[in-house]
Amino acid sequence: MPEKVLVTREMPEAGLRPLEEFDVTTLSEGPPERDELLKAARGVAGVLCTLTEQMDAEFMDVAGDSLKVVANMAVGYDNVDLEAAKERGVVITNTPEVLNETTADTAFMLMLVAARRLGEGERIVRAGEWEAWGPKMLLGPDVWGKKLGIIGFGGIGQAVARRARGFGMEVLYSGRSRREEAEKEFEARYLELDELLETCDFISLHTPLTEETTHLIGEAELGKMKKEAVLVNTARGSVVDEAALADALEGGRIFAAGLDVYEEEPRVHTKLLELENVVLAPHIGSASFETRDKMAVTAGEDLRAVLRGEQPQNPVNA
Ligand code: GLV
Repeated sequence: MPEKVLVTREMPEAGLRPLEEFDVTTLSEGPPERDELLKAARGVAGVLCTLTEQMDAEFMDVAGDSLKVVANMAVGYDNVDLEAAKERGVVITNTPEVLNETTADTAFMLMLVAARRLGEGERIVRAGEWEAWGPKMLLGPDVWGKKLGIIGFGGIGQAVARRARGFGMEVLYSGRSRREEAEKEFEARYLELDELLETCDFISLHTPLTEETTHLIGEAELGKMKKEAVLVNTARGSVVDEAALADALEGGRIFAAGLDVYEEEPRVHTKLLELENVVLAPHIGSASFETRDKMAVTAGEDLRAVLRGEQPQNPVNA
């Protein structure tokens, strides 16, 4: 009898191909209700899930002893309880690397759109309110030639640095570890967080969400940033204190922000929805045709590897 595999959301076709040898159940296009998810968990050996599903102790217990692997189709895995997985001997995998370039594109897009006020401009055009070209209309800071501060200088952060160099930007970074190779490659300079915040014109966040990074950027940190600075978050919403950010944007204490992620997705802080100086994307960091295919294949292949008794490529709790 083929082993049972649960796919929690409709996936790019490519991701299902590695799962052909299993008895696969795919749930809904949108995030499944918790009840539906738990009901479908019973007796499965593998789960291919996304960041919208909480893979916690309750889920693993409902799945039972048959559960061997949870393949999370995302690089971030803050939706997975690693302790619970370890206690139950469940392998967790993620999809690093394949989304670096696409997510870096998203960060750069948000930087440009927030600085050069494209969201506002689009709203004016669509509302039929554009009257004429104006010498002082919709001015914002240049992106090219400025100082970019990258917080979290891993694969995605470095892909952002590569783009920044093409824009003639100076790259500075902060994070848990020094990255000497990357420092050479991008002529990047390491700074402590406070100094980075004080120095840079653009700040882009690329850390995983952990206890340490929760609200890494709050009122005090926003207060250290330049008045003309732009903050970009394509990491996880809770790395930023959203209420403090909304206050800083409203009070003009920083120039603008570009956000792809939120503390309680899909809910967005109501004040942010009313502000002009923030660009709001619906968590589409890796949402290109090519990259979502690669993420789905990566997750599918790792799930299959574990069920075949082989070594997966991307275990996070090896
Ligand atoms: C998306 O947010 C991911 O972690 O891959």
